[in-house]
Amino acid sequence: MKYLIDTANLEMITKCNDLLPIAGVTSNPSIIKKEGKIDFFAHFRKIRQIIGSEKAIHIQILAQDSEGIIREAHKILDNVDKNVYIKVPVTPQGLKAVQLLKKENIGVTATAIYNKTQGFLAMEAGADFIAPYYNRMENLDIDAADTVASFANMINAYGYETQIIAASFKNMAQVNTALACGAQLVTMAPDILLSALAVPSIKKAVDDFDDDWKKIFGNSSICDMK
Ligand code: G3P
Repeated sequence: MKYLIDTANLEMITKCNDLLPIAGVTSNPSIIKKEGKIDFFAHFRKIRQIIGSEKAIHIQILAQDSEGIIREAHKILDNVDKNVYIKVPVTPQGLKAVQLLKKENIGVTATAIYNKTQGFLAMEAGADFIAPYYNRMENLDIDAADTVASFANMINAYGYETQIIAASFKNMAQVNTALACGAQLVTMAPDILLSALAVPSIKKAVDDFDDDWKKIFGNSSICDMK
């Protein structure tokens, strides 16, 4: 089980990287838009600096034809680093690009997945990760849980090395269901993850423990115990 954060916000990445066991950072052009007109490559180099070399960065291309996708992928790899996973929407041109990128041994995340066929074809094309859009599927009355479970079953049945990085979440119930259905990774806006830890009952429990301790030991802490 791995958690990634779907953001390009440096402050949030720094905070989450410091506090949470995150495995990396994902983004797409709509997420980047929230940061304004950033210095694109420098921004992602900064993200690499923050999260370190062990964690993953997934960056999406914009081109819609396979040649353009390959060109953009190389530009990203040359200007950020060679370990970036290139996110490619699963269209016919995208699938062509995935196969070509894999021939060059470039890491690929097949994204914008709304149905089983897209995911199956992306596995067959050799994608390292497939990113089913969980909430967007639910908005269309597509059974997102069943879609993720089908991907997991096919990966197991046929021994694909592809992993599922479920994406597009609006709440933790969706995230936890995707994990239960076999997604090895999930990516979400940091607020969704942090909100699960911000439940008032958690704070109250911690405060109650503190009060009870103080009733016996006053201001002495565990470190003051002999
Ligand atoms: O990672 C894919 C994701 O960013 C799409 O999310 O919230 O735009 O459906 P959303």
